[in-house]
Amino acid sequence: MILRDVHSTLTAKHLLFELLKERRPEQSISHKGMPTWEEHVAFVRSRPYEHWYLIEADGYFRGAVYLTRQREVGVAIFEGCRGQHYAEDAVAELMRLHPGRFLANINPANEASIALFRKLSFVGPIQITLEKP
Ligand SMILES: CC(C)(COP(=O)(O)OP(=O)(O)OC[C@H]1O[C@@H](n2cnc3c(N)ncnc32)[C@H](O)[C@@H]1OP(=O)(O)O)[C@@H](O)C(=O)NCCC(=O)NCCS
Repeated sequence: MILRDVHSTLTAKHLLFELLKERRPEQSISHKGMPTWEEHVAFVRSRPYEHWYLIEADGYFRGAVYLTRQREVGVAIFEGCRGQHYAEDAVAELMRLHPGRFLANINPANEASIALFRKLSFVGPIQITLEKP
């Protein structure tokens, strides 16, 4: 498993757009619907995260992982590649590369993500965020 920097990978924008198409509302706390291709490209070019990688294994891209400037981890794996420990390995590698404190902001309905981060020794919840839409 190799982490490839998004900003140095030619096909990254397309792969990340495909990943976004698989995103479901319960998987995210910031779900705002599908952006247009132009919005997506502008978002990637804005370098929104401190570190952002594609997850490559056996010559194929399996998903993406990022670390925000607030030390929040995000990870997504293509549906067809789940359950093979790509997320676990990728987050572990991200933490090895950028040691320190880490946070995971997770929709309470996202049981897979909660289980993933608990397996990686994340504890909590340490905060409950309420929203007035
Ligand atoms: C959550 C997600 C990233 C997990 O990716 P994955 O590669 O399938 O997860 P892994 O195979 O690395 O799983 C590692 C551990 O997490 C837990 N886990 C992962 N998926 C799970 C599921 N569907 N149900 C219960 N536990 C799960 C298990 O403990 C698993 O270890 P085990 O298989 O030895 O029991 C993936 O389901 C995904 O991309 N979801 C959509 C995006 C998302 O929700 N991202 C999280 C927001 S930060």
